[in-house]
Amino acid sequence: MTKITIAIDGFSSTGKSTVAKQLAKALGYVYVDSGAMYRAVTLYAMQNGYIDSAYFDKESLIAQLDQISISFKFNENLGFAEVYLNGKNIEKQIRTLEVSQFVSQVATVSEVREQLVKQQQNFGKNKGVVMDGRDIGTVVFPYAELKLFMTASAEKRAQRRYDELIKRGDDVSYDEVLKNVQSRDHIDSTREDSPLTIAEGSIKLDNSNMTLEEQFEFVLKHSDEKI
Ligand code: C5P
Repeated sequence: MTKITIAIDGFSSTGKSTVAKQLAKALGYVYVDSGAMYRAVTLYAMQNGYIDSAYFDKESLIAQLDQISISFKFNENLGFAEVYLNGKNIEKQIRTLEVSQFVSQVATVSEVREQLVKQQQNFGKNKGVVMDGRDIGTVVFPYAELKLFMTASAEKRAQRRYDELIKRGDDVSYDEVLKNVQSRDHIDSTREDSPLTIAEGSIKLDNSNMTLEEQFEFVLKHSDEKI
């Protein structure tokens, strides 16, 4: 069977990773969460005092980029690959609202994007990959055989993310999660380098009123047509 490249882009908290993981598992493909890589760089910047709510020392972060090593290791129990920063598992740490509040600023830095895009393209060099993010169909894999663009109302997305954070035991309010979703969408869509746009040839999936099963059936049908 031919192996293809599947690019899934879309707004924050649209459930891209849930669908991508499920699809990768069904096809026996590798799943790569590109957002986790931007989150890892953000965590590094926070740990080193390069970013906080008052300032962002972009130049220091850029100067340290070669000190940042991001890798993924498959966790059999979880059924997906967890992200590591310089050899340390940071899967839980990068999902906090605090990291979410800084990540879109970090993702505007072209030097950061250049380094991560190179690594992402390398992950996909043998095809058989499902990658989700914001610029996968436009920049990372413009020649992907299947491109999906996921969306849903901001309120639905904020509710899903809020439920996830509460389940983890994080102390957050629905309003601050909604604000974060809206602010990330705005920064991601309006930045100069690789803004979030609908790649040419993308299939749109608005999952505001769809169950997980319906979404999975939808993406599986479209990938079967390409394989
Ligand atoms: O996918 P996730 O919500 O975890 O991504 C976190 C942030 O990383 C996004 O809001 C965006 O700013 C950035 N990102 C990006 N390009 C990607 C993936 C994520 O700019 N391909």
